[in-house]
Amino acid sequence: MIQLKKVDWDNYEDVIKLHVTKEQEDFVADNDASLIHAFLAMSEGEPVFAFAIYNDDTPVGFIQMGYDDDWSGEERKDWLESDVFKKWDGKKYYFIWRFMIDKKYQGKGYGKEALRKAIEFLKTEPCGKAEYITLSYERTNEVARKLYFSFGFYEPTEFAPYYHDEDEISAILKL
Ligand SMILES: CC(C)(COP(=O)(O)OP(=O)(O)OC[C@H]1O[C@@H](n2cnc3c(N)ncnc32)[C@H](O)[C@@H]1OP(=O)(O)O)[C@@H](O)C(=O)NCCC(=O)NCCS
Repeated sequence: MIQLKKVDWDNYEDVIKLHVTKEQEDFVADNDASLIHAFLAMSEGEPVFAFAIYNDDTPVGFIQMGYDDDWSGEERKDWLESDVFKKWDGKKYYFIWRFMIDKKYQGKGYGKEALRKAIEFLKTEPCGKAEYITLSYERTNEVARKLYFSFGFYEPTEFAPYYHDEDEISAILKL
């Protein structure tokens, strides 16, 4: 049975031992880097939810989420001034920041079940009301894109929660 357990002193070492395949390394940061990013965000007052994904007692993956990102420090001014961003700006949202299943455990349905649980968790609106859940993925990451679409995520054309470029695209799910 798949469960999400908060990353803590007891399981963080297991989490950093989980890795994707060599070919997937561009799709997601290493878990140790993700936990450092969580620390940095939290030290700036941002909420972060970092969960180990367990199948029964076995750690099989990792998912990290946040709330209402603050774009004030964003360096890509051209994007902040663009119409697609202006139409998005001001909307409250939760976001899935990092998500992975270790290479040994992929293709067994764990990712799907973990994502279902993560969305259920975000629907409880742990930081207050929001309109959307957002995320982004590499354009070549067909497995992730299909999985997100199967939960109702779509790629909006009228506005964008994240900077789009030739490599990465964002998708949203209405809460
Ligand atoms: C994306 C990821 C989390 C999916 O986890 P998973 O446990 O392997 O996925 P599941 O076994 O639950 O399968 C989910 C769906 O993807 C399909 N799938 C999984 N691996 C696949 C593969 N290698 N090729 C084709 N389809 C695949 C499954 O068939 C299933 O589809 P279905 O619901 O239509 O049957 C995992 O592949 C991963 O960690 N990838 C590398 C990191 C990454 O890309 N993270 C997302 C960043 S945005």
